[in-house]
Amino acid sequence: MNKTIQPLKNALKGKVTIPGDKSISHRAVLFASLAKGESTIDGFLHGDDCLSTIACMKQLGIQIDEDGNRISVKGKGFQGLTEPAKVLDVGNSGTTIRLLSGVLAGQSFSSVLIGDDSIAKRPMARVTGPLKMMNADIDGRDQAEYTPLHLRGGDLKGIHYLSPVASAQVKSAILLAGLYAKGETKVTEPTKSRDHTERMLESFGVKVDVTEFSASLKGGQELQGTNIHVPGDISSAAFLLVAGAIVPGSEITLKNVGMNPTRTGIIDVLQQMGAKLTIENERLFGGEPVADLTICYSKLSGMTIDGDLIPRLIDEIPAIAVLASQAEGKTVIKDAQELKVKETNRIDTVVNQLSELGVAIEATLDGMIIEGKSTVNGGNVQSFHDHRIGMAMALCGLISTDPVHVEDTEAIAVSYPTFFEDLQSLSGEK
Ligand code: S3P
Repeated sequence: MNKTIQPLKNALKGKVTIPGDKSISHRAVLFASLAKGESTIDGFLHGDDCLSTIACMKQLGIQIDEDGNRISVKGKGFQGLTEPAKVLDVGNSGTTIRLLSGVLAGQSFSSVLIGDDSIAKRPMARVTGPLKMMNADIDGRDQAEYTPLHLRGGDLKGIHYLSPVASAQVKSAILLAGLYAKGETKVTEPTKSRDHTERMLESFGVKVDVTEFSASLKGGQELQGTNIHVPGDISSAAFLLVAGAIVPGSEITLKNVGMNPTRTGIIDVLQQMGAKLTIENERLFGGEPVADLTICYSKLSGMTIDGDLIPRLIDEIPAIAVLASQAEGKTVIKDAQELKVKETNRIDTVVNQLSELGVAIEATLDGMIIEGKSTVNGGNVQSFHDHRIGMAMALCGLISTDPVHVEDTEAIAVSYPTFFEDLQSLSGEK
């Protein structure tokens, strides 16, 4: 599916309730499947990635029922999964394959994981390596660096893993395997990655010890079914926050946005660039902080984004590049080499596609440099089947001189299926 975005005649105005957080939705289904008894999940994201997690857990013998935004999961305890009759297909979802690898490493049966063309290129040794150290038996292309992965559960032993990358997928896979391991399993990261796993395991009754850069747990702890409330995804909100900041005259309110401090780098960037952003109604919602955010069109200035800030906004960099193109002066993004191993190589895809529309942007080894303030031209751009590239390109079409044609926008349903409807309701255009 292709989409033509016409430059807006009006400002963006109004309110939107942001759909559920993708990271939290995955974990809710996965952990509920391992728990004893029934769990309910409210506000679940019906994005393609999270639906892949549901499909895999069903193949592993778990009954999952969907009723609108509420999901109910009949967990069978952490030894309750059954050997899948077919290959488990994670689609485009890196979170599904990496977290599920941790769970499957602890099972006494054998399973095979595959995904789409993007998954086939993404590195898996960052997860399969430490799982092998725990005694899991894993094969895969290029020594389990790439899919298909074949996992056969071992008698796992706890390890203390010093991760070379700040990655919540790595940390979570190891901690999940740690539930099946003898003794203690600990992960230490160079900087703290998102901590939804640690928070949610606690909600399911698992004791997790957390320090500044480490998380650890003891094997053999049983999860108890519970009710999970999923807050809105700040990574989806980011695209509308950027839209509000760059479309002249706009004022939009985004309700129920997850404000976990490991995810709020985009808020820091907007504030530092000078955006008019108001944070209201801050509250705790199912163990996660949330708030309502109001953003107004703002005069912005460029900045440097690097270091510890990067893991707190890694998924927002495609949106931030568009934001930076409308700021006065230079924005430098450094220390973001992890962008190269996302759904696409997001240094290349962001830089190539924004250049295509006339934005002054250049790639560096670990990020990019964007010169503001650029006039955005119309033209043809690709999403490369990467949801966040598709949405970033659509943002360009809101402020471009001529229409922007974005190819393969169906990818956006991976994380934000109602993106175009929400934009349309804010633009007041039919
Ligand atoms: C995620 C962790 C991040 C993030 C991804 C979702 C998660 O990946 O980019 O979109 O849900 O744990 P890494 O763990 O590779 O940093």
